[in-house]
Amino acid sequence: MYILVMYETVEGHTKKLAETIAKWLEEVGLKVMLTSASQIGFCDPGEFDGAILCAPIHMAQYPQAFVDYINDWRDGLEAIPTALVTVSLGIASQFPDERAEVELFPRQLQDDTGWKANIEHNAAGALKFREYDFFKRWIMRRISEKEGGPVDTSKDHELTDWSALKEFTLKFAKTVQD
Ligand SMILES: Cc1cc2nc3c(=O)[nH]c(=O)nc-3n(C[C@H](O)[C@H](O)[C@H](O)COP(=O)(O)O)c2cc1C
Repeated sequence: MYILVMYETVEGHTKKLAETIAKWLEEVGLKVMLTSASQIGFCDPGEFDGAILCAPIHMAQYPQAFVDYINDWRDGLEAIPTALVTVSLGIASQFPDERAEVELFPRQLQDDTGWKANIEHNAAGALKFREYDFFKRWIMRRISEKEGGPVDTSKDHELTDWSALKEFTLKFAKTVQD
């Protein structure tokens, strides 16, 4: 069985998630094609036995290349089992209303594309303070502080719950294999 793991990333963390998901799928005997939305070109997801799509939220939006791919290939995606992994910081917020807001991003994607994945997962992302320029570091620190998150800008912070992501991935793998 052949699974498409498609991701988009701005700062690399979602790529790391997608690579890890691909590794877990291969460990349970699935074949994987791992690619980014901007590289995938004219590859019909309907040719696969399932697809996991992963994308981060930046400025309250999914990356445009990710949205475009879904719009272009919605029919193919609807023909197979699919999963959506949304990566954000808001989901790690200490405040329930902030988390609830992030949980609405997949609905925004559905409004924009007409596509809804069979299963969805919200993963907390990363704060790459050491890679941000001065302005971005200042903004991201303020946002993180407001959400009760890390504020030590001398290091990067990875907030992803890897065991929850693995559980989600294996649940999807089982759906495809059954
Ligand atoms: C400029 C910028 C804007 C962001 N905007 C949001 C946002 O609106 N909501 C949110 O929950 N997280 C936001 N984040 C957090 C990212 O989703 C998080 O850092 C994620 O790990 C980025 O994934 P990537 O490395 O694959 O691009 C933002 C991050 C940056 C750097």
